[in-house]
Amino acid sequence: MPNVIITGAQWGDEGKGKIVDFLTETADVVVRGAGGNNAGHTVIQGGQKYVLHLIPSGILWKDKTCVIGNGVVMDPMGLNAEIDKLRGQNVIINEANLFISDRAHIVMPYHRGLDQRREILLAAKKIGTTGRGIGPAYADKIERRGFRFIDAGDTPVFRERLEERLDECNGLFTAVGLPKLEIAQVLDEVLPAIARLVPFRTNTSMIVHDAITAGKSLLFEGAQGTYLDIDHGTYPFVTSSNTTAGGAITGTGAALRKIDRVVGVCKAYTTRVGSGPFVTENDALGDRLHNMGREFGATTGRPRRCGWLDTVMVRYAGIINGLDDLAVTNLDGLDGVSEIQVCTAYTLDGERLTVPPATVDEMARCVPVYETLPGWNCDITAARKITDLPTNARAYLDRMTALTGLPISMIGVGPDREQTLVA
Ligand code: GDP
Ligand code: IMO
Ligand code: MG
Repeated sequence: MPNVIITGAQWGDEGKGKIVDFLTETADVVVRGAGGNNAGHTVIQGGQKYVLHLIPSGILWKDKTCVIGNGVVMDPMGLNAEIDKLRGQNVIINEANLFISDRAHIVMPYHRGLDQRREILLAAKKIGTTGRGIGPAYADKIERRGFRFIDAGDTPVFRERLEERLDECNGLFTAVGLPKLEIAQVLDEVLPAIARLVPFRTNTSMIVHDAITAGKSLLFEGAQGTYLDIDHGTYPFVTSSNTTAGGAITGTGAALRKIDRVVGVCKAYTTRVGSGPFVTENDALGDRLHNMGREFGATTGRPRRCGWLDTVMVRYAGIINGLDDLAVTNLDGLDGVSEIQVCTAYTLDGERLTVPPATVDEMARCVPVYETLPGWNCDITAARKITDLPTNARAYLDRMTALTGLPISMIGVGPDREQTLVA
């Protein structure tokens, strides 16, 4: 299998974890290059549910190498908790199958406080972050005052820099009524957590390079999605990293020219967690999906906002990521919807748009142009090949390809690994 980047084509939660898990069978190495434990990737295998936050979904397969790359921001307490939880589910995690970049930045307890503070100050305009400290950790990285994994440990320099930073943060916390963080408390929490992870620490760019040179197959597991990208997303209602395909390069040290394929994962409809404009939002569809027990956040448990498929977004995601093909998940979410709406363009102040506008104010004023397609009105979760799908479901997928310009390579008809059809 070639080297493949898997990226979200919408606002995250497209089912990347499930698609990565499915493709891992034929891969050797699975690498994360961006985001942190704001991500929540669900994999269901043989009825057992696993939720991955920082660890690549490939860990569920035996004998695969998993890498947390330099572009990830790593919460040491969160990662230890994730390792313990997965081990409790009999997943093997050790120094032979998990490697963490020595250059990855650490998410510190005060980053979570800063995240909270910012949301308090933004009040009604809040971003609706996951509260995991992701934005402040990336901000410190860019401001060149973060702690990389290699820099964090029980040394006088670390203690001194930490104390200075805590002093600054505590002033900000008390001003908005948040509790101060004491240095002793932070050290007690962070140092043992980091020490436990040191055996996994290495220069992961060399692991990636050596695997590529040896002709192994690499899968780059995206986190979040195109419209949460700090550059290309619905700014400022975005996360703080490059979630698009380029992040898989800068965030892992992989050579750009060694990538053979970029797959965009998208739902057959659209969801979003957190604030920000959502052109095709539809509460009736949301109620329907929530009543089926679906579309609750894997990280925060928040109900996801839901709406119709927006092909303006997916087509543009194809352009930005250079997508070769699409993996369409949750097609079964539309089972029983008799009339399915698909957004083909937007109108804004009388003008027709086929590319998302640059500002959220404009995006909020965009009116979707819909095309109505007939539903299939039956349960498709038992389908195992494309020809098992009803004609209207196949026509829906064909229309997606016509509107986005992207061929469909995989189709999800249920959450389980085996409910994935290869086109
Ligand atoms: P990720 O963050 O992109 O990995 O996606 P999440 O795991 O946050 O959310 C996707 C949700 O959809 C999870 O609950 C998956 O188990 C579920 N899922 C993925 N593909 C399918 C599918 O084809 N059908 C159904 N019913 N559920 C799916
Ligand atoms: P996966 O990898 C969906 C959203 C948050 C919020 C915004 C900023 O599971 O697809 P942050 O905590 O990153 O500063 O929050 O981004 N967000 C996600 N939404 N899936 C995710 O990850 C997300 N990670 C962040 O809800 O709107
Ligand atoms: Mg998710």
